[in-house]
Amino acid sequence: MATALIDLDDLDLFVSGDPYAAWAWLREHAPVYWNATADGGYWALTTYADVSAVYRDPVAFSSKDGTVLGGSFRSATDTATGQMLICSDPPEHRLLRHHVHKAFDKRMMHAAAEHVRAYLTDALDRLTADGGGDFATEVAPTLPAGLLAAMFGIGRADALHLLHLTRTMIGFRDEEYVRDSGEALTLVGAQVEIFDFLTELLDRRRAEPGEDLVSILLAAETNGRGLTESQILYNALNVAVGGNETTPFTASAIVETLIGHPEEERRLHDDPSLVGTAVDEFFRWTSTNAYVRRTATKDVTLRGIRIPAGQTLTLWNASANRDESAFPHADRLDLGRAPNHHLAFGVANHRCVGMSAAWMEITLLVEELVRRRLRFTPSGKIERLASNFMLGIKHLPVEVAA
Ligand code: HEM
Repeated sequence: MATALIDLDDLDLFVSGDPYAAWAWLREHAPVYWNATADGGYWALTTYADVSAVYRDPVAFSSKDGTVLGGSFRSATDTATGQMLICSDPPEHRLLRHHVHKAFDKRMMHAAAEHVRAYLTDALDRLTADGGGDFATEVAPTLPAGLLAAMFGIGRADALHLLHLTRTMIGFRDEEYVRDSGEALTLVGAQVEIFDFLTELLDRRRAEPGEDLVSILLAAETNGRGLTESQILYNALNVAVGGNETTPFTASAIVETLIGHPEEERRLHDDPSLVGTAVDEFFRWTSTNAYVRRTATKDVTLRGIRIPAGQTLTLWNASANRDESAFPHADRLDLGRAPNHHLAFGVANHRCVGMSAAWMEITLLVEELVRRRLRFTPSGKIERLASNFMLGIKHLPVEVAA
C-alpha cells in the first residue's frame, strides 16, 4: 500500500474497506502522515507513543477547534470554543470539568444502572423470543437511552428522540441520516433541534430543580459565579452526544467481535470471571471513537517532521490501540488481557468524563450476554456508518440462540 493511496478522509475506507490495514501501514512507514484533503489537510498520528504524547500536552496541542474534523464545533470562531468541555483548554477546561464530573457520581451511576438494566432486559427478552433481529437498532440503543433517561431525568421516549438527533448530528455525512437539505444543513438542523430540546428542559429545571445533570449545572458555582446559560446547554449537549453515540456502537461491535472469535466467546461463557478484563479488551478492540482532533498552538517537531502552528492533527486511538509496541500480539483479541492501557477513552485532561458510565453500560451488557449464554450468528448484511470519527455499525441483523 503506498502512502498516496491512503486517505483517512475517504469514508468508503470505513464503510467497506479495511482501515486497520491502512493504520498498520502508516504506523510502520509514515507515523506522522500528512493526509491531504480538498480544502487543505491534517496530520495523522497513528502510533501509541505519539498519540499519548500529544494527548498529554494540552498547551502545545489545543482542543479549541473541537474534536471532530470538519464536523461539529469546527471553527476557531465557533461559539462552543472555551464553553464546552471538549472544545476548551486549561484553565477553562478544568472548571467546566469539575462541574460536569459531579453528574457522574455514585448515586447517578446507580440510578442509571437501574434504567439501563430494565431497558436492556426488555430488549434482550424480545430479541430472544423473536429468535433474532437487528441488534444495532433493537438492543444497542437501550444502553444510552437508559443512561440519558437517568442523567437528564426524562422518559424513555424523550431519551430515544434525543438519541435520534445526536445520531443525525454525528452521522450527518451518512445517507441514512442526511436530510434533503444536504450535509451542512443536516448537521446544523440537528444541533438546533437538540438545543431546542435542552433549552426547554433548562426552563423546566429552573422552575423545578431536580437531581439531574441540567439541575446540577444550574446549581454550579465557583467564587460566587455560576455557569452561563450557553455553558450549561453546550455541556449538556456534550454529555448527550458523548453518551449516545459511543456505547451503542461499542455494543454492536462487541457482538460482531464475538461472532468473529468463537473461541474467545466460548472462553468468556465458560469463565464469567473474565468479564472485567473482557470489557477493557472490547474497548481496546472496538475503539469506537476512532480519532480526536487537536490544533498545534506553536511550531512543533515530531519524529523530525515540522508541524507549523495552526495546523490540525488527528490522534488515531483505534490505530494506537493496535500498536504492537504497546500491546503484545496487538492484533489478537484476548479477553483475559492484563494490563491493558488502551486509549479508547483518550488520556490526560480530556480523558472521557463518561468513562464510568460507559463501563457500567458495557459491563451490564456483557454480564447479561454471559448470564443468558447468548450466541449470535449473522442473518444479513452488516451496515456501517459513513464516518471516520465513529466506527459505527448501523445495522447488525443476527439470529440468536441461548
Ligand atoms: C465506549 C464509550 C466511549 C468512548 C470510546 C469515548 C471516547 C472518548 C474520548 C476518546 C474522549 C476524549 C476526547 C478528547 O480528548 O478530545 C472522550 C471525552 C468525552 N466523553 Fe466519552 N467516550 C465514551 C463514552 C462516553 C459517555 C457514556 C459519555 C457521557 C455520558 C461521554 C462523554 C464524554 C465527554 C463529555 C467528553 C469530554 C471530556 C473532556 O473534554 O474533558 N463519553 N470520550
